[in-house]
Order: sequence, then C-alpha cells, then structure tokens
Amino acid sequence: MYSPITDALTAPPAGLDPSFFTGQDPAAYTPEDHEVWGILYERRMAELLDTGSEAFLSGAEVIGLDQTRVPDLEDVNRRLGPRTGWAAIPVTGFIEARQFFSCLAERRFPTTITVRPRSQLEYLEEPDIFHDVFGHVPLHANPVFADFLQTFGGVAAQAEDPGDVRAMARLFWFTVEFGLVEERGRTRIYGSGLISSVGDAANALGPNCDRRPFSLDAVLAQPFEIDRLQDVLFVVDDFRHLFEACEEAERRLRQGRLTT
Ligand SMILES: [Fe+2]
Repeated sequence: MYSPITDALTAPPAGLDPSFFTGQDPAAYTPEDHEVWGILYERRMAELLDTGSEAFLSGAEVIGLDQTRVPDLEDVNRRLGPRTGWAAIPVTGFIEARQFFSCLAERRFPTTITVRPRSQLEYLEEPDIFHDVFGHVPLHANPVFADFLQTFGGVAAQAEDPGDVRAMARLFWFTVEFGLVEERGRTRIYGSGLISSVGDAANALGPNCDRRPFSLDAVLAQPFEIDRLQDVLFVVDDFRHLFEACEEAERRLRQGRLTT
C-alpha cells in the first residue's frame, strides 16, 4: 500500500491506483541485500565502463549509484529531479500497463524496491531494484532520453487497439529495455535489460545477435520473446531519433494507423 511517509518526490501521480505504490524504508535492507547489490554492481560496472553508453555512465554518477549500499530512492530523486524532473517512485511489483505508461507521461518511473536473492544473481522473471535503478534510472538523467521516455508514456497510454498496444510494447522493448547506441566508433549499451544482465549484454554485442539500424517501422514490425536471448536488436546513433520516433507514432495514432 502506498504510504504517506514518502515525500512529494516519490508520490505517484494523482488518479492512479494507490495499491500499486508503496514506500521504501532504506533501513530495512539487510546486510545480505547490500552485499547482493554490491556483487551485481561490481560485475556489471566493470564491463560497462567499456561497453556502456555515455548516458548510462554519466547518469550513474549523477544519481549517486554506490557499490556499498542499495540505493535510497529519496536520495536518487534529490539528485535526479533538478536535472530532468524525473523521479523513481516505489511500487509493489508489476504494474498494470496503462498505469505504468501514465506514470512515464508524468516523469515518474515505477520502481521495484526488492533485492533479488543471491541464488538468482543473473536472471529473475520479475524486475528488482537492480534492474530498475541500476538498469533504468541513470538514463533518466539524460535530457534527450528523459524527453523521449515521457513522450513515449503519453503515446503508449493512448493506444487502445490491441495491434497498437503490441506495437508500442515493441518500441519499448527494443529501446528502453534492449536498446543499443553507436557512440565513439562502437556499438554500446543503453537498454536496461542489457545494462543489468551479463548474459544479455554479451549476447547483444556478440556474433549471434543481428544488430540493425533503428527505424520506427522496423521496430514496430519486429516480434520479440521475453525469456530468451535476443536474435535481433536495433542501434540508434542519437537519442533524438527515439524522440522523433515517438512523435511519429503519436501522429500515426491520431490518424488511426500506427503500423503501416
Ligand atoms: Fe525494465
């Protein structure tokens, strides 16, 4: 249940189902939680210094990610808010899609606060705070990505036709979750599913993944499966293309034809 102990920065947008939201008590994390966070942080950051996008690396600094402790969302938000107006708000787990997109449209990122068990360091079905805060939130400090994600939320929340909903899910998957970016002469990682996973990241940059140039039509036509390594991913050369793709998706939705 959403708790009023959280301050305005971590409050969910008005009008959303409060049962999805909760509070975070940073003092409740156990030494085991902090240790698991530290293990995950250390092994991902060591690689990401080489393979991570600039937006991730600088964002991780901006929000004050620290290997020694599970992040305190109020601290993260105090650092992030002045940069882009985004905030991470604690949720109880998976959140209904339209509510999730409505949060994004208000620059609020629904964030799981649990730490995965040590026995599931590499993969777990549900997101946890490592996926959500280490994987997603640093990108929210990048002004262009921040605008893109808010726009995405507004457009996705409007989609009603099942085909349009599926198309917007593909756009989210191949950008926010599994996006690649061409930077300083190399393909680098920015999608949260790649930032937070050793195996997915190695696959994305390895010989078994077909890395294609990003285009809205190519992404909307590309199916995906969530529980296996990805055969196809898309590379942008500038986050502005993501923002423009969302604007184009919005135009098409208004005209009643998202996919051509
Ligand atoms: Fe995610």
